[in-house]
Amino acid sequence: MRVITIYNKKGGTGKTSIATNVAANLAAAGYRVGMLDGDEQANTSTLTSPHRYGKPTLTHVICDAVPLREAMYQARRNLWIVPADMNLTRAVEYVHGQQDFEVLCDRIEELQRTLGTAPTPEQTQPWWQAKEVRLRDFDLVPTSDEEFRTPPSSLDFIIMDNPPNPNALTTAMLFAAQEVLIPVELEEFAYQGLVQMFEDITRKFRRRQQKMKIAGIIPMRVDHRGALAADYLISLWKAFPELTTRTIHTDKTISNAQAYHRVSFEEDRNSRGARELFDLSLWLAGWQGHVMGLETCKHCLAAREQALQTEEEE
Ligand SMILES: Nc1ncnc2c1ncn2[C@@H]1O[C@H](COP(=O)(O)OP(=O)(O)OP(=O)(O)O)[C@@H](O)[C@H]1O
Ligand SMILES: [Mg+2]
Repeated sequence: MRVITIYNKKGGTGKTSIATNVAANLAAAGYRVGMLDGDEQANTSTLTSPHRYGKPTLTHVICDAVPLREAMYQARRNLWIVPADMNLTRAVEYVHGQQDFEVLCDRIEELQRTLGTAPTPEQTQPWWQAKEVRLRDFDLVPTSDEEFRTPPSSLDFIIMDNPPNPNALTTAMLFAAQEVLIPVELEEFAYQGLVQMFEDITRKFRRRQQKMKIAGIIPMRVDHRGALAADYLISLWKAFPELTTRTIHTDKTISNAQAYHRVSFEEDRNSRGARELFDLSLWLAGWQGHVMGLETCKHCLAAREQALQTEEEE
């Protein structure tokens, strides 16, 4: 089971969009995914309506030692959400007060002991062998009330969404994860923020045996009409050539979907946003093919080539 936290100290960079879409796309692709909402704004939790769950939530998992499994609601087939609630500050205060930054490691370990193993799409699904996939061949299925209350029997991924300002719970989530995914916007402060964040993460982990793997830095909400978009993309690819992932362009499907408690795949699977996010999700799973209908962006390509070229020249 891979445990991934979606992190950026800055607000509004696309953490929730990445967490919800990646988790849902992986579920549509046949992986079994758990998603933890670590933000009291509860944006991730809105993939399921609050009247369906009530208690327990992540607050009770942290403060009252409720097993994670009992707070997992299957919002779509293969996608379980551990929702946040308005009292999540109680959980933040608990972690801070007790200095118990291991609390989520413990809960996840405890969860893992209750889970079995199941074959993954690599082993079972024909699309894994294909060089190209079509989004219409995948499906994200709503759940019945009974399925909603059925906890997972195995999981391939846990994905965690974080709030804008890091707090004690964010640290607990970092410690519980093996990988971090960082969405960034292309703007002046994003790059500085990234460097600060890496220092921050390194400092937090300096006394720990465990190492944190940066799974990717995702250029988010890319709009080439902005005069400096290409410049920022070039700097990002130059600074982090191995870590910078495919770009996710500005697409209203991404924001519209959220307004209706859906993900982009459900909103309009033919949209650029849905295809780009699907491609990113399958890349994260290790698949190396191409999503049909997803055109290569010539602006992104030019920026990437320029980044490589200037690197060779230097
Ligand atoms: N590629 C995109 N195209 C269009 N809108 C986007 C895109 N990515 C994100 N957004 C919109 O930008 C806003 C901020 O995104 P999101 O909520 O994912 O950020 P966040 O980092 O989770 O914010 P917070 O720090 O407040 O939790 C949302 O309204 C979202 O719909
Ligand atoms: Mg958010």
